[in-house]
Amino acid sequence: MTSSLCKSVLITGCNRGIGLQLVKQLAESSNRPATIIASARNPSGSTALQELSRTFPDVHVVTLDVVDGQSISSALKDVRSILGNNGLNCLINNAAVGFSTNINSVTPEDMMRTFQVNSVAPLFVTKAFLPLLQTAAAQSAGMGIHRAAVINISSILGSIGLNCGEAAKFKSYAYRTSKAALNMVTRCLAADLGSDGILCMSLHPGWVKTDMGGIHAELTVEESVSGMMSVLSSLTQSNHGGFKDYRGQNLQW
Ligand SMILES: NC(=O)c1ccc[n+]([C@@H]2O[C@H](COP(=O)([O-])OP(=O)(O)OC[C@H]3O[C@@H](n4cnc5c(N)ncnc54)[C@H](OP(=O)(O)O)[C@@H]3O)[C@@H](O)[C@H]2O)c1
Repeated sequence: MTSSLCKSVLITGCNRGIGLQLVKQLAESSNRPATIIASARNPSGSTALQELSRTFPDVHVVTLDVVDGQSISSALKDVRSILGNNGLNCLINNAAVGFSTNINSVTPEDMMRTFQVNSVAPLFVTKAFLPLLQTAAAQSAGMGIHRAAVINISSILGSIGLNCGEAAKFKSYAYRTSKAALNMVTRCLAADLGSDGILCMSLHPGWVKTDMGGIHAELTVEESVSGMMSVLSSLTQSNHGGFKDYRGQNLQW
């Protein structure tokens, strides 16, 4: 990712896993964005995130619980004061919850909680930060993260078309449904924000060794994030409203 492609980025859920690694690899990149805003609901609980912000002065840590309206408003104030009048180029909705829920174990509470964090929160975080994305979009042309973008970290498990055969063996009513709903949020945002020049897409990071992905996952967090960074840096108008994986392959909805 080159700094000319993205001056500022805000990521949710950065205290561990893929979010933390995104912050790390962005900060270590020779062409890093001038401003990297790493949000987490309890930043002081993450030694790794605190360490990154001490090492890299361009990494700003902001408290944001994505399901709490007051926390969103307060994070918006913090982000505005960090960015000034420049607006925000790239919002990465990464925070999520995930666990397996089969036909016997799934509860209404699992469904609602997962829907709230994984589908509703990315929409309302995006709504809150929209004025900042619009400010950035008004300052340049074309489409991509150099201008303005909303990247929803989704999952292949949210693909309705691919929930068959081997892939259907992973049972999670709550998680799969929430990511399918997130994909629809992406499509609705794409329909609404394209005319403002704000690119919107869903991105699957692969099956990654994190607390969520587990130790048997295929990819290290470093491999997944390297792939995602190349995808992010190459996005253009043709990817608006799309669903891709970390290798840049298009996925079925
Ligand atoms: N790992 C995989 O194999 C895989 C595969 C496909 C898609 N994904 C997607 O990739 C993204 C990152 O997943 P991961 O593997 O890094 O998961 P993870 O290790 O479980 O991390 C989840 C992150 O989300 C945060 N979070 C949860 N609820 C939050 C809230 N209300 N407000 C703010 N932050 C909250 C967590 O913060 P706390 O520590 O405070 O809970 C944590 O930072 C997710 O969208 C996930 O669905 C992962």
